Amino acid sequence: MYRGMDVISALQFSRSDIEHLIRVAEELRRRVEFGEKLEIAKGRILFTAFFEPSTRTRLSFQFAMTKLGGMVVDLGPEEVSSMAKGESPEDTLRTVDSYNPDVIVVRHREPGFAARAAEICKTPVINAGDGYNEHPTQALLDVYTIWRALGRIDGVRIGLMGDLKYGRTVSSLSYALSNFRDVEIHFVSPRELQPREEVLRVLDKRRVRYELHEKPDEVIEKLDVLYVTRLQKERMKPEDYERLKGSYIINYEYLKKFTHIPLIMHPLPRVWELTPDVDGLPQAIYFEQARNGLYIRMALIKEILGL
Ligand code: NCD
Repeated sequence: MYRGMDVISALQFSRSDIEHLIRVAEELRRRVEFGEKLEIAKGRILFTAFFEPSTRTRLSFQFAMTKLGGMVVDLGPEEVSSMAKGESPEDTLRTVDSYNPDVIVVRHREPGFAARAAEICKTPVINAGDGYNEHPTQALLDVYTIWRALGRIDGVRIGLMGDLKYGRTVSSLSYALSNFRDVEIHFVSPRELQPREEVLRVLDKRRVRYELHEKPDEVIEKLDVLYVTRLQKERMKPEDYERLKGSYIINYEYLKKFTHIPLIMHPLPRVWELTPDVDGLPQAIYFEQARNGLYIRMALIKEILGL
């Protein structure tokens, strides 16, 4: 069912799609960790076009394709492409599409950009983040991480904390979780950074239990997972950033007050909201989470290419 498909929103994935991708990711992981050099994507090309900064997403897609035995072509930074001469991203994609890559991964600051790219390109397009809107493959790796850590997704009690308004990982993760039974979402944020209406409407429609909180203290002990996000500085006015900066911080000093500390996740990059003194806790699984991105993206590419 995935072959040739565009991945624009986490809402495209059903429970069985996610479970299938997790199974494929686990199988690929076993083979890679066993030292096998995979050649299943031999001769295939993945093109990455990031019009917004990225470390993990871009590199993990590139590593994923390389580890499948395929090849990677990257757009490179703006300064070296015709973007610097004023070319539109649409024209850039149109051109690359005509070179026949097998899959195109795009990131852009504009919500809805990935859907537009998918209309322009005959090649399957994967959304690696479109502004504040969505980041569906991050949601897949987040759900995969929860499954690996807890052995289940049903019944998970998760706190999503930070910039829930402009953070696209939170919307996509909420959508992905809405496929599972008895999930409880606790949104924790300053009032003005609460999740967008359209996200809450989807959760209402899908009858997901959620609550809004301003402080984490009241929920920490109820949670299996606390998912921390950074303030999306690039999507807000500088004066709002300055005012909200430091409005929530998870550090060791704070966590040690609690008798139960949930698993701590973060899509990364972190800035000040999650301090390095938390890294040593057994509950800190954000680097493992980033690593899981490699395998779930390998699985997704494999399925899209029909390998
Ligand atoms: C996130 C993103 O780009 O939305 N990063 C990522 O892909 N892991 C989170 C963020 O930038 O805050």
